[in-house]
Amino acid sequence: MEHAPQKALRERGAHGRNRAHGPTAHGAIDACYSTRAGPRTLRGLKHLLIIYHSQSGKTATMAHAVRRGAMHPEIESVDVRMRAAADADPRDLFWCDAVIFATPENFGYMAGAMKDFFDRTFYPCQGRLSGIPYAVVVGAGNDGTGALAALRRIVRGFPLRESQEPIVCSGPPGEDVLARCEELGATMAAGLEIGMF
Ligand SMILES: Cc1cc2nc3c(=O)[nH]c(=O)nc-3n(C[C@H](O)[C@H](O)[C@H](O)COP(=O)(O)O)c2cc1C
Repeated sequence: MEHAPQKALRERGAHGRNRAHGPTAHGAIDACYSTRAGPRTLRGLKHLLIIYHSQSGKTATMAHAVRRGAMHPEIESVDVRMRAAADADPRDLFWCDAVIFATPENFGYMAGAMKDFFDRTFYPCQGRLSGIPYAVVVGAGNDGTGALAALRRIVRGFPLRESQEPIVCSGPPGEDVLARCEELGATMAAGLEIGMF
């Protein structure tokens, strides 16, 4: 039989420590929450957020690699939350200590869903975020610079602070790109853990 504290820990792990959204609010998207279940959730964790959009799956593959890196077993005190841009809201930004954005380039710009996320969160976040570190991953067909430039310009106003080199992938993400994405996730998470930012 499952005891109440075990159930509580399991649920906290499944939905992130600061559980702003329940399973009924976002349905299947909850599957994207990390599951750092266990006593760790009772300690002072840092929070890493991954916001992504993907139409055909390429950028999602990169975002999942970022998450894999961030959830490296040696990084124990960082909770990772991954959210589709369309489902994310200001509470996700309030929750996090660092954020990684992963977007495709569409028509020389970031994906519309990512832009919509910024449109929806800008006013609610005004004056409430102070230079949270961020990094960017772009999945492109042949360029990617337009999406990167647009995203950088927008987040400067939140304000967020770019803390790692971006990853821009043209074409299908190969092993090398995915390894870099994993490394980015691990670097951001480890940086949070040791208080580097
Ligand atoms: C509507 C649309 C517009 C696109 N515009 C660009 C573009 O301006 N520059 C570019 O390099 N790739 C462009 N692409 C290609 C995508 O960026 C590329 O296929 C990307 O890997 C898709 O990522 P996703 O599978 O995560 O959606 C475009 C794709 C679509 C569907």
